[in-house]
Amino acid sequence: MIDRESAAEQALRGDVRAPSKGPGVPRPRESGPLPHRVRHRFPIFERLVYVNSCSQGALSDSVRQAYADYLRDWDERGSPWEYWVEQTERARRAFAELVGADPDEVGVTTSLSEGVSAVATGLRFAGRRSKVVMSDYEFPTVGQIWHAQAARGARVVLVPPSEDGTIPYEHWEQAIDDETLIVSLTHVSYRTGTMLDVERITQLAHERGALVLLDAYQTAGSVPIDVRALRVDLLAAGALKYLLGSAGLAFLYCRRELVERFWPTATGWFADREIFEMNHRRYAPATTGARFQSGTPPIPAIYAGVAGIELVQEIGVAATREHVQALNSRLIEGLDELRAKVVTPRRPKRRGALICVASFDAPALVAALRREGIVTSSRNGNVRISAHCYNAEEDVDAVLAALGRNRRLLRRA
Ligand SMILES: Cc1ncc(COP(=O)(O)O)c(C=O)c1O
Repeated sequence: MIDRESAAEQALRGDVRAPSKGPGVPRPRESGPLPHRVRHRFPIFERLVYVNSCSQGALSDSVRQAYADYLRDWDERGSPWEYWVEQTERARRAFAELVGADPDEVGVTTSLSEGVSAVATGLRFAGRRSKVVMSDYEFPTVGQIWHAQAARGARVVLVPPSEDGTIPYEHWEQAIDDETLIVSLTHVSYRTGTMLDVERITQLAHERGALVLLDAYQTAGSVPIDVRALRVDLLAAGALKYLLGSAGLAFLYCRRELVERFWPTATGWFADREIFEMNHRRYAPATTGARFQSGTPPIPAIYAGVAGIELVQEIGVAATREHVQALNSRLIEGLDELRAKVVTPRRPKRRGALICVASFDAPALVAALRREGIVTSSRNGNVRISAHCYNAEEDVDAVLAALGRNRRLLRRA
């Protein structure tokens, strides 16, 4: 399947062109405040007020161009597998850099579920340490994967939030004990916007001998992440939201010293120690983060994901965080004026990019906003409004004005 000719040779001959940023694609202005230096690269803003990055990031010119590059390379070369494998390594490096990891600690997967399944099936739940402690805010896929391990001896314990939407530290103290094998956390809840105190919970988990897995899907690209500072053992995220890529690409980080403690039974040939040995007579998983991979890498999504992550890095995650925090303060102020019930905690440290507002009929409110050209989404009775680097104050004001016109659908504070 793999063309043995090296990508370097192909590139030297001009058979595979370097991934272009596209003819005429404007580069971000070197300086200047957000969103103005980047907004023009996302054509959707010519038509819509887009505040739904918690679901899918907006399409940029460079990600559109990346898809064109993929089709061109496929069309012109047929099967440049060496080059495509190199693009997979480029995606691995880009994500590793984003979260402060080493590339060999990162697996490239097709979804967050795939990486977490490899982790979960890689654990043994025999003996006393068989408890999985997870927040009540986990995304369904994570909860379902842990519950599926009940058939293998796992005991799943949920840690509930309190009235104000945060999960108090005492709740973790009660749940994590010396029978806990792993603690599963979501960085920011997809349905309330609550940001967990990952450092503190991780320290507790480690003191009690448990591993920590962090689902960073809602923070990768919107909040600076450093796996060494957070001290988590495992971290999973995907490319399609704040990383500005598309569906089909995700990553699984595992702290180097731990990789070989996992023996994933959800696996595939791209997790093998020697992929191109093509050996079907044994299972010998990689000693690196590739151990959490599965089958053929999602090449089109990798082109898009690399373009997305590189754009996110150019724009700057810290600058994005600061910009979005300011937009969200404006949004919360306006919601207070409307007397709307803000579900997301108010302390900036306890929220990510996502702000959730309670509604009597969230799907109807999302539809009403959509009729006014505003794209949001809903989960669990809440409307989700999530700004990113490209959103402007005028977007927040448009959302607030539309919510004002539909205030009968808003729950009161
Ligand atoms: C927090 C979180 N985790 C996981 C997922 C989904 O992961 P997967 O790539 O497995 O679909 C999402 C959103 O789609 C999410 O918001």
